[in-house]
Amino acid sequence: MIKKGIILAGGLGTRMGPLSKAVNKQLFPIYDKPLIFYPLSILMLAGIKDILIIVNKGQLSQFKKILPNGENLGIKISYAQQEFPGGLPEAFIIGEKFIGKSKVALILGDNFFYGQSLTAKLKNCVKLTSGAKVFLHPVNNPSLYGVIKLNKNKKIQKIEEKPKRYLSNLAITGLYFFDNNVIKYSKILKPSKRKEIEIVDLLKKYNKKRKLSAELIGRGGAWLDAGSI
Ligand code: G1P
Repeated sequence: MIKKGIILAGGLGTRMGPLSKAVNKQLFPIYDKPLIFYPLSILMLAGIKDILIIVNKGQLSQFKKILPNGENLGIKISYAQQEFPGGLPEAFIIGEKFIGKSKVALILGDNFFYGQSLTAKLKNCVKLTSGAKVFLHPVNNPSLYGVIKLNKNKKIQKIEEKPKRYLSNLAITGLYFFDNNVIKYSKILKPSKRKEIEIVDLLKKYNKKRKLSAELIGRGGAWLDAGSI
């Protein structure tokens, strides 16, 4: 069972300026709650109660005011700071101590999920015994995301970050489940052209060992990456 989860709520929110200059985008309101409450609720629906939130250096107090230690929600929240946004897999390096010998889920603080059958799927994902699992969702603009091409048998054929040429319309959403190898694998990743270590490179490592599986959010499901206003 996966009992630990990380919310990566760093990032500079450059496409959301000038709003994001004063307030981290993960604290922007979606209806009546800060954006980060929604990915937090996804981890809670998965039954994960031990949660590490990684925030930008210097923004800890903003988050702690809104989400102190989780006690009022019946969960445990701890925090870590990221010096500089150096890529998603940094979450597992920063969170190494928190993860310990466990398996771990990662959700991005700016990802919004909604789906009728999502809870059942999440409950299934936390049963992961080894390897990694990602959630896919069809999008109209796949060149903005990490993308996976499946073959006829729904097996993963190719993984690419922001493909310039059409590969598939299945975006890799910001919700991932990993076994404990994730720490080891993250540490050996090399920075990409955008000078970040890339989650797709991490996923490729699992896929090479035939240890990566993919699941669709499913019909009627919605996924929004709040990258722009
Ligand atoms: C990141 C990942 C990408 C993924 C996306 C989901 O993109 O690199 O693979 O599809 O999150 O939100 P970024 O937000 O860094 O452009």
